[in-house]
Amino acid sequence: MSRTFAMIKPDAVQAGNAGKIIAHLQDAGFRVLGMKLTQISRQQAEKFYEVHAARPFYGELVEFMSSGPSVVLALESDNAVTKWRETIGATDPAEAAEGTIRKLYAESKGKNAVHGSDSDENAAIEIAFFFSGTELVG
Ligand code: CMP
Repeated sequence: MSRTFAMIKPDAVQAGNAGKIIAHLQDAGFRVLGMKLTQISRQQAEKFYEVHAARPFYGELVEFMSSGPSVVLALESDNAVTKWRETIGATDPAEAAEGTIRKLYAESKGKNAVHGSDSDENAAIEIAFFFSGTELVG
């Protein structure tokens, strides 16, 4: 078993889709080890996405991610990182496969409903960014 970090972004929370996305991920076989509703600060968003700091969309991304509440989750399954990325689909919902979370709930590349870690190493970093050890079960 391994872990990944997931986020239900402000667009999906605002649209009332958080519950459906949590049901979707549980139906897909993920176990929730940690979960909270939080409004990410501008400073947290800048730090979380600092790898994208040189990209033209960085300012827009930071603005959007701190614009309203998000749900942050630590998830467990077999091959969690790969499996979660398959479950959410491509970054651009126009390219996401049928039945994926982004195909179902995302509106654009920026407002794309959910986040998923891209490696086991980043999953550990991202989980630790939002959760202390005592906030995780299992
Ligand atoms: P995420 O998986 O959270 O990781 C980086 C984010 O950058 C990505 O999802 C998108 O929301 C965002 N992103 C990537 N490309 C673009 C783009 N061209 N315009 C706006 N946002 C983008």
